[in-house]
Amino acid sequence: MKSALALLAAPLVAALPSDMGKASALKQRQAPVSIHEAFVGAGKEFFGAATDQGLLQREPNAAIIRANFGQVTHENSMKWGSLEANRGSYNWGPADEVVDWAVANGQLVRGHTLIWHSQLPQWVEGITDAEELREVIRNHVSTTVGRYAGRIHHWDVVNEILAEDGSLRDSVFSRVLGEEFVKIAFEVARETDPSAVLYINDYNLDQANYGKVNGMVSLVQKWVNEGVPIDGIAALEQLASAPVGEVAITELDIAQAPVEDYTAVVQACLNVEKCTAITVWGVGDADSWRRGEDPLLFDNNFNPKPAYDAIIDLLS
Ligand code: XIL
Repeated sequence: MKSALALLAAPLVAALPSDMGKASALKQRQAPVSIHEAFVGAGKEFFGAATDQGLLQREPNAAIIRANFGQVTHENSMKWGSLEANRGSYNWGPADEVVDWAVANGQLVRGHTLIWHSQLPQWVEGITDAEELREVIRNHVSTTVGRYAGRIHHWDVVNEILAEDGSLRDSVFSRVLGEEFVKIAFEVARETDPSAVLYINDYNLDQANYGKVNGMVSLVQKWVNEGVPIDGIAALEQLASAPVGEVAITELDIAQAPVEDYTAVVQACLNVEKCTAITVWGVGDADSWRRGEDPLLFDNNFNPKPAYDAIIDLLS
């Protein structure tokens, strides 16, 4: 559903049509039915979208999210590299703004992400001493989760920690600490905000009996048995068989947004009782990180696309 990583490409900022400020024009561009409400009506928890501070300031992003979605994920501003590029000096502004806006507008928030090999500060990347890295992880997790305690519904505690064959991916975390970093991160997150649902998040988990999926199920099984407080995994049937309370589709985008593929994903979530939620990785195609692939539910002019309407039909 998602492409493999092609990181660090900033999304192209599209010029907005000049009538965008007019309330009537804006209204027409929003889908008449909320995909979030339709999904909740089908027994699920939320249907959300990734966004960020700059995007929320450019209408109609905020209006569409308010009208049509029920949850937001920070596209970049909650990543370690954005929060603490220089050791000890935090840049909370953009991440705070998204959380404040979400709370004020009745949107749930997924916290993305605490521990990830990518968009990681250089100074973390360079750590070679195990005790120092343990302390740095504990501090990052407790500071960040603590700041937003009670306001962030899900945390992606660890992100993309598996290689395609299902083994632990090579990173500063796995090199210096082995699997131990997973345990530390989840335990500190649980201690710091017991109300947050703690997720392990990854991509390429949408094929049955694939090495990475098998690895995910067996590692989560083992970690949960060892007492690591993992509540959820991000996609689907086979993953739901691991001993976690829930699974969710957390970063959905599909090149060209085919109606059949989008509805298949939503149907898959409907079919799996443990699947609680879906988040698309952005609102309008012009802002997608996979630019040129038109993978989202709203087009370059923020009109809802056929896949949006087909999902509404499926849910009603
Ligand atoms: C992407 C953002 O969308 C881009 O703007 C950024 O340049 C790179 O990261 N998997 C993830 C997300 O977990 O954090 C990534 O987001 C997309 C792939």
